[in-house]
Amino acid sequence: METLAQFYIIYPLGLSDLGLLELKEKWVIHYPDKKLEIISKNEGGVLINVTTLQGFSLNHILRSPTRILLRVAEFKARDFPKLFNKISKLPMKHLLIGQKPEIEASATNSKLFDSRKIEKAIKDGIEESYRKQPVKKKYLDHFEANKTNDLPKIYYRAVDDMITISIDTTGELLHKRGDKIFTGLAPIRESLASLLLAALTYDLDKKPYILIDPMTGSGTFLIEAHDAYKINNDRNFAYQNFPLWIDYLPKKQFIDNFKSSENDKFSKHLGFEINEDVIKLAVKNTEGKNIQIKKGDVFSKSESLAGDNLVIVNPPYGLRVGEKSNINVEYYKKIIQSVREKYSPVRVGIIIPEEHYFNPAPKDLVARIPFKNGGLSVIFYILKN
Ligand SMILES: C[S@@+](CC[C@H](N)C(=O)[O-])C[C@H]1O[C@@H](n2cnc3c(N)ncnc32)[C@H](O)[C@@H]1O
Repeated sequence: METLAQFYIIYPLGLSDLGLLELKEKWVIHYPDKKLEIISKNEGGVLINVTTLQGFSLNHILRSPTRILLRVAEFKARDFPKLFNKISKLPMKHLLIGQKPEIEASATNSKLFDSRKIEKAIKDGIEESYRKQPVKKKYLDHFEANKTNDLPKIYYRAVDDMITISIDTTGELLHKRGDKIFTGLAPIRESLASLLLAALTYDLDKKPYILIDPMTGSGTFLIEAHDAYKINNDRNFAYQNFPLWIDYLPKKQFIDNFKSSENDKFSKHLGFEINEDVIKLAVKNTEGKNIQIKKGDVFSKSESLAGDNLVIVNPPYGLRVGEKSNINVEYYKKIIQSVREKYSPVRVGIIIPEEHYFNPAPKDLVARIPFKNGGLSVIFYILKN
């Protein structure tokens, strides 16, 4: 567990720079004496070299990745017998407990691209590795006892015939926090919310701000801001089914060592929402947290609030029947104007679908971050007051 291994941390496409901000910040908090070795970064993720144990722990510590893969091997192959052969020699007995894992394959400019054949070669290779190095009974028993658990998938990626084989350490996507969440209309994924919050705040000074979400829905932004430094011990992760981990004795101690802390970036987390039913859900989701949710209309003039305010908002996109005609660029401009009048925020972060061609004056713009939200091309604009 103390040996070095490569982990590839996957982020929503185009947002790995923001993910890296969280990784660096939290690494220093949890591993203050250890250097973080970043091998490379691309649009979709960050490759790091850390101990196996540290890599596993990032599932508990980080909130913005999609998932975290452990790299198992990298080799060139242009035919299936070679792929089979390579797989059959990998030390799978440390990672698999006798299951036939699902395979996720992707190939660019490579001879081996047929996903069905790739899957077959990998599965046959794994069977062969089990034959050569039989899985111990205790793992087979663990497998039998934990059949409902998320067992890890194997990731195959080929680029110019260079093949990388990885195993998932996360399981169900990392944005699943383990708490029960009641979702309102079009909630934003928790991992995206935490990335956008990072974009909004990372370069601000350290004074505590009031975070306001004027169209708060189920409360995702406020919960993610509130829990930004919470350790996730409320769910299982795929790595917990690796023989490596099953055999690791100080498991509980290891996980208990990581301590959650309050997010001191915000002195208050305030949400407003127009729909009474959605407010009820948001109130349930935020129970026990320093988050206040009230009924409010973003366009009303009544709830103004002075202070060091930051506004973050994910307005409706008009995808539901009957709404589309009212939602155009003027609707988003009205929201911005209204929150500026009510809260005089230091910054406003707002998500607007790309199709509306919102084009703020350069003097107003801090950042423009394109990404996909539920398959739709949108842009997160950060605006000055
Ligand atoms: C896309 S959802 C927000 C999703 C939220 N970020 C979440 O993760 O749950 C937009 C929300 O704005 C609310 N809304 C629509 N018009 C509003 C208005 N005029 N004032 C306040 N809230 C409004 C809707 O009821 C909906 O819950």
